[in-house]
Amino acid sequence: MINQQRLWNNLAELAQIREADVPPIGTTRRAFTPAYITGRQWLATRFAAVGLQVFIDAGGNLIGRLPGSDDALPPIMIGSHSDTVMGGGSYDGALGVLGALEVAQTLIDHGISLRHPLEVVDFMAEESTPLGSLLGSTAMAAGLDHDVLMRDVPGWGTLADALRRVGGNPDAVAQPLRRPGEIAAYVEIHIEQGPRLERADIVLGAVTGIVGIRRADITCYGQPDHAGTASMDVRRDALAAVAQLIVAAEQAANRRTGAVATVGALEVLPNQSNVIPGQVRFTVEMRSLDMVEVESMWHEIHDTFVAACAARGVTFAIHALHDSQPVVFGESMISTIESACNAAVGTSMRLPSGAGHDGSMIGLIAPAGMIFVRTKNGRSHCPEEFSAPDDNAASVRALLDTVRALDTMVD
Ligand code: HGY
Ligand code: MN
Ligand code: MN
Repeated sequence: MINQQRLWNNLAELAQIREADVPPIGTTRRAFTPAYITGRQWLATRFAAVGLQVFIDAGGNLIGRLPGSDDALPPIMIGSHSDTVMGGGSYDGALGVLGALEVAQTLIDHGISLRHPLEVVDFMAEESTPLGSLLGSTAMAAGLDHDVLMRDVPGWGTLADALRRVGGNPDAVAQPLRRPGEIAAYVEIHIEQGPRLERADIVLGAVTGIVGIRRADITCYGQPDHAGTASMDVRRDALAAVAQLIVAAEQAANRRTGAVATVGALEVLPNQSNVIPGQVRFTVEMRSLDMVEVESMWHEIHDTFVAACAARGVTFAIHALHDSQPVVFGESMISTIESACNAAVGTSMRLPSGAGHDGSMIGLIAPAGMIFVRTKNGRSHCPEEFSAPDDNAASVRALLDTVRALDTMVD
């Protein structure tokens, strides 16, 4: 029933909406940028064209609603995010939003009505930005703290202003936008972004849970000096101190089977070959399904960094960017998704997600689940990111079956 070509055309068209003033590598459509806003306008037009009632909530989430035969029931929510990382791919997030749209259009085209209203959602700012991540789903499930909204980030401004630019209302997000019971269920299609399905030669996966993530934005303050005349004993080299943290993070994660740690963003000032780095701003993030591992890693990394800074006479400031607990999805949801995947492609496998997703926030207030799609070479957050048209179509068939099953199972 689903239209595979229409899905493929939509993915290709959205992928062309990208930031122009960045290196032409992959698809870059970062949250809050003009390209992102253009992409959402394109999505809103598509949502309206299939007959959905379109609105943006105070958290900046773009929502297309299809009334149910019993419209007083809480909606079944499907979707993902349309923002990308810098130099990203065309499927991370986009497949979840456009796959959900394809489910809605298929229901409408075939005159299939659900008891529950259906909401197709593009969650605002899922990816990591200097203003935070999972921002739209956090606003929906938990609300956004005032200090998070008002923190002024160089080059980005405040989240409050950014939220207004995308149609949200920072004055109305102090409390969660939805309460437990106000979403009947949430299901998201997403590329696996890892190698497990491909290695097992399986197309679709029923996700069992999502890792916990702790991410910090740290600035290290040293002293710029002449690289030739400042002797080693007088230097206050900020980058040399941060280098100790980077190695400590890698070693801490290597000592733990289920954990990862990454220093992904780093800016050096003045970033000049013959000047001792006076200031370094960087991010460090740690992930695991077991938050005890994240805590113990952070203690090791932090202790190493404190000693490295003390030995060099440098100081630092830490800003917590993100802290989400691991989420374990419910057995009923996992087995419903597993049955739908098996019906779509004959088999499936259960696996956890090493990537963060909006489902970790919506899972705080509603039964949530995810359908993973096989990813070529397990690559993501890069131009090589790819999932095959047949696999994408299969995931949408599985989502359609999951939605129709949930419609009879939940109230
Ligand atoms: O970073 C993540 O795991 C996701 O892609 N936002
Ligand atoms: Mn991503
Ligand atoms: Mn994603």
